[in-house]
Amino acid sequence: MSWFVYVAVTLLSLVQGNPTVRSSQQQAPPAAGQSIGYVQQQQSTLQYNKMESKPALTPAETMPVEELDPSHYPARRAAHVAQHYLNTQHGSPFKLLGVDRVVSATLEKIAGVGMKYFVVFALKEMITNEPMGQCSTEVLYPIGEEQAPPQVQCSCDGLLQIDTKAHEEALYQQLKASDSLVSGHNIPDSYGFIAPEMKPFWHLGGVASSFVMLKESNESTLYNMAQVVNVTQQESQDKELTFQYHVLLHEMVSQEIIHWKLLVSWCPAEGVRVLQTEWQPKCHHCVAPPSNTTLTLYSPS
Ligand SMILES: *[C@@H]1O[C@H](CO)[C@@H](O)[C@H](O)[C@H]1NC(C)=O
Ligand SMILES: *[C@@H]1O[C@H](CO)[C@@H](O)[C@H](O)[C@H]1NC(C)=O
Ligand SMILES: *[C@@H]1O[C@H](CO)[C@@H](O)[C@H](O)[C@H]1NC(C)=O
Repeated sequence: MSWFVYVAVTLLSLVQGNPTVRSSQQQAPPAAGQSIGYVQQQQSTLQYNKMESKPALTPAETMPVEELDPSHYPARRAAHVAQHYLNTQHGSPFKLLGVDRVVSATLEKIAGVGMKYFVVFALKEMITNEPMGQCSTEVLYPIGEEQAPPQVQCSCDGLLQIDTKAHEEALYQQLKASDSLVSGHNIPDSYGFIAPEMKPFWHLGGVASSFVMLKESNESTLYNMAQVVNVTQQESQDKELTFQYHVLLHEMVSQEIIHWKLLVSWCPAEGVRVLQTEWQPKCHHCVAPPSNTTLTLYSPS
């Protein structure tokens, strides 16, 4: 999509008093027990570029675009939102995507619509630490009475480089063949230790948490997963395996630890889905493990 056309078309839509941000995501935050159509939500993108209108004004005259320091919080927060988005699309028990480095970032304030970040960042696979090329993303934090999730468009040049199919298939067959259901707790433990056989369930918890972190993020949050409090595989006759997770998320700006219960399904063909999310009242006995284990790539400065 051309930046010029995007900006101009956006402008035109504003002039017409008809901003066209799709509102499919503008739901209230999840209530306890509520099931959410995350799978559809993942596909939502800004639709400005689909409008066929002639630009009325040139962007230079009208839309000041602010350059951001790539190492500062605002750019990194937007890049993190894109990271969560990519994990909802491509994550697996053997693939967890993360921002390695923000290359460049700009911010555009679109009156009546929201704050739109355009960020270029280097991506890496966090389990193997392998670089995965660059991504360009647009993250829009919509303005509204109720907080709506950010809307993300992202394109990357190296997502297929890492092939985890064989590992996924092996784990899947092993779980399908097993007589007992997997369960675990305190991943990692208070010493930061993760048993090797639990690592895929830690990563799966990280991918599932990205669905929540994507939805809960706003312009001033930076979320990471801190711990899988527990995970319990559920009985399932379907192709998909299902797991009940309790996870602790760390909001790094407020330093709050937030507790969520997630029902997660996974199979190699369908990928990871989050079927239910439930925000949990504060967990008083929950203590986040040492921060060297959180799924973060750089600590906040
Ligand atoms: C985190 O730190 C603890 C204690 O310093 C150490 O035992 C543990 O192995 C570390 N974990 C990771 C994943 O580096
Ligand atoms: C962002 O989310 C945090 C945590 O939910 C909330 O405290 C804060 O008010 C939100 N900020 C905005 C600008 O919506
Ligand atoms: C998982 O942890 C939560 C929070 O501590 C607890 O309420 C729940 O009973 C635990 N589930 C299992 C299966 O241990």
